[in-house]
Amino acid sequence: MALVYLNGEYLPLEEAKVPVLDRGFIFGDGVYEVIPVYNRRPFRLSEHLRRLQHSLDGIRLANPHREAEWAERIGRIVAAAETEDQGVYLQVTRGPAPRDHAFPNAVQPTVFIMSNPLSTPPRAAVEQGVAAVTAVDNRWLRCDIKAIALLPNVLLRQLAVDAGCAETVLLRDGFLTEGAASNIFAVRDGVILAPPKSNLMLPGITYDVVLEIAQAKGFAHEVRQVSEAELRGADEIWQTSSTKEVTAVVRLDGQPVGTGKPGPVFWRMHAAYQDYKQTVMRAAS
Ligand code: PDD
Repeated sequence: MALVYLNGEYLPLEEAKVPVLDRGFIFGDGVYEVIPVYNRRPFRLSEHLRRLQHSLDGIRLANPHREAEWAERIGRIVAAAETEDQGVYLQVTRGPAPRDHAFPNAVQPTVFIMSNPLSTPPRAAVEQGVAAVTAVDNRWLRCDIKAIALLPNVLLRQLAVDAGCAETVLLRDGFLTEGAASNIFAVRDGVILAPPKSNLMLPGITYDVVLEIAQAKGFAHEVRQVSEAELRGADEIWQTSSTKEVTAVVRLDGQPVGTGKPGPVFWRMHAAYQDYKQTVMRAAS
């Protein structure tokens, strides 16, 4: 039977309850991770847990568990889930306390883990690509923290949905940062361009995989700032995330990107990514 984990207990989702004074509910005071699971094996668990530590450090909240403890808890949730491929969601908040912006003296963090079937991009999205809009990145200056306070991302992503598009591509001070819920790459003259990791974007695990593949396969790539003009004149644009894998953006603000179809560099990366998925992500441990 599918179970979730809440503060030491394994129970059905319907039975998992959090006090209304939880600081996650009151202030959005917490952080999270989304970990893809293939054949019941969490992919790059250590890297996700390292990013979780970075997020916890960023909000000055002690990690309630060691890596082995996280692995054990996640393992039990993954084992109890129905599907082989899953998306594990985990969240840590600063716990329940009387409402006061200042940290409580005695923190009892709330730890929640659930797993859902992994939703990978539909075939049509891979073959035809997706449309996106752009918006000014009006989020805070710690976008490297995977904070549960996602209201800016929610509002930005909704701009895409309202326009019948899949993603909102964000520009800050004339440069590409990332998507509302993904990292963004551009391709110009055959060169893959990736904005450098900084406080202005989430350091995506899929972003790392794409750059590693580019390196291993000898695909021309540069990690450097991408200006708005370069983005708008790009031959290809891609979005990446644990659930979107690598998907081509073929229209930006109603204009075709390159030919308006997923481009040749995308197809090479897509093939290499799928190969990596079969041989590494799905490989028996
Ligand atoms: N989001 N940037 C943002 C703002 C994101 O929310 C995400 C992922 C990424 C890609 O990170 P990764 O490759 O590690 O999945 C980049 C997850 C999937 C979510 O919030 O559901």
